[in-house]
Amino acid sequence: MEQPKKIQPADGKLGILLVGMGAVATTTIAGVMLSRTGGAAPVGSLTQLGTIRLGKRTENRDPLIRELVPLAGLDAIEFGGWDIYPETAFEAAARAAVLERRHLDAVRSELEAIQPMKGVFYQEYVPRLRGAHVIDAPTKAEAVERIRADIRAFKASRGVERVVVVWCASTETFLSPTTAHADIASFEAALARNDAAISPTQIYAWACLKEGVPFANGAPNLGVDFRAAVDLARETSTPIAGKDFKTGQTLMKTVIAPGLKARLLGLRGWYSTNILGNRDGEVLDEPASFKTKEQSKLGVLDSILEPEKHADLYGELVHKVRIDYYPPRGDAKEGWDNIDLFGWLGYPMQMKVNFLCRDSILAAPIVLDLALFLDLAKRSGLRGIQEWLGFYFKSPMAAEGLTPDHDLFVQHLKLKNTLRWLVGEDLIHHLGNEYYD
Ligand SMILES: NC(=O)c1ccc[n+]([C@@H]2O[C@H](COP(=O)([O-])OP(=O)(O)OC[C@H]3O[C@@H](n4cnc5c(N)ncnc54)[C@H](O)[C@@H]3O)[C@@H](O)[C@H]2O)c1
Repeated sequence: MEQPKKIQPADGKLGILLVGMGAVATTTIAGVMLSRTGGAAPVGSLTQLGTIRLGKRTENRDPLIRELVPLAGLDAIEFGGWDIYPETAFEAAARAAVLERRHLDAVRSELEAIQPMKGVFYQEYVPRLRGAHVIDAPTKAEAVERIRADIRAFKASRGVERVVVVWCASTETFLSPTTAHADIASFEAALARNDAAISPTQIYAWACLKEGVPFANGAPNLGVDFRAAVDLARETSTPIAGKDFKTGQTLMKTVIAPGLKARLLGLRGWYSTNILGNRDGEVLDEPASFKTKEQSKLGVLDSILEPEKHADLYGELVHKVRIDYYPPRGDAKEGWDNIDLFGWLGYPMQMKVNFLCRDSILAAPIVLDLALFLDLAKRSGLRGIQEWLGFYFKSPMAAEGLTPDHDLFVQHLKLKNTLRWLVGEDLIHHLGNEYYD
């Protein structure tokens, strides 16, 4: 593929519009505000803390990623978004109770100034929620137009040069692509006739694609992972990425499974369960929403283990995933994994993982990185699926017919090599022989 000729500079302000001002979105916004003032560190963010090796090891060139490629600075970000409740970002963050009061109070006035725009919502896609702060549009096609108008109004009123959108709203009921999703014309016709196959995620995404605004899908919902959306993204030169932020248990799964596979240790079973007490947990308590999440969580092992090539090691694997809504825990999710593996001569072993994590604390740096990298992609002339951002997702998107990489370290290498390629640096292949010539 031809290397981008010139990356446009990150001049002016970048608008980050978040769909859904819940726990993840407000933790991201408050975290960026705190990082700006030095009140806290953006831990977990590649764009803020990551370095990248360039050239040979003997060259000792390891700049920060944000020194290698032109990224919008934290000071240049303006936040906004949509929700189906009218609470300000401060009220929503206080209710989500992820961050301590001292952190919220330190940026209170800035958070209070962020009032979500009315959301596009139809209850059948998230049966557990009832929204009152909702756009009143007679057709889904008109809902798309309202979101487009919102994006333009935000740009004009805040004086931002560019906008990116990240879906941080609830998990919708499970949907598969239908004929409505087959091409651009079918999708537009389906919007006009209020086709039930089109959910709010797709409406926001379509509006973004029409506006040439990069879109990332942080939930497992059907959003931009269908033919019509990929075609429109290419037509309007819009980068897209998805789906479902890879945060706690799945992050660990894509660290541990490649390790076991690399050593050709066999697996008989992988049982994963979680307790979670935030609103996301409540939404996922609904079987139709859980199914969407389950599909996303189940997908990772097959592509890493390749049971079709190693039937003796992975052909019999039983993989189960459970999530239980348990209010006392709030956002402090606890995940348990029981892994039944076997080694030399088939002797069995077990591994137990108990991850006491914090969902939104793990998701926030992903939202920030995706927004900044998608903006970079747009300024670099990249369009359509950004496979190099698969690093951040449980169900990474890839071109039709391609199996996406789930191995976190392969994804990491791909991301860094893409950054090197963007600026004309040599790709790192880790051969190493050249040091011994
Ligand atoms: N935190 C994580 O580790 C993690 C990982 C992967 C995916 N996710 C996904 O990220 C999303 C957000 O998680 P959260 O913990 O912030 O949930 P949350 O329930 O706190 O926030 C979601 C927000 O979206 C709003 N919303 C729902 N439908 C909407 C619509 N159509 N338009 C506008 N707003 C809408 C809700 O009112 C709510 O405020 C969920 O879908 C979750 O599954 C989170």
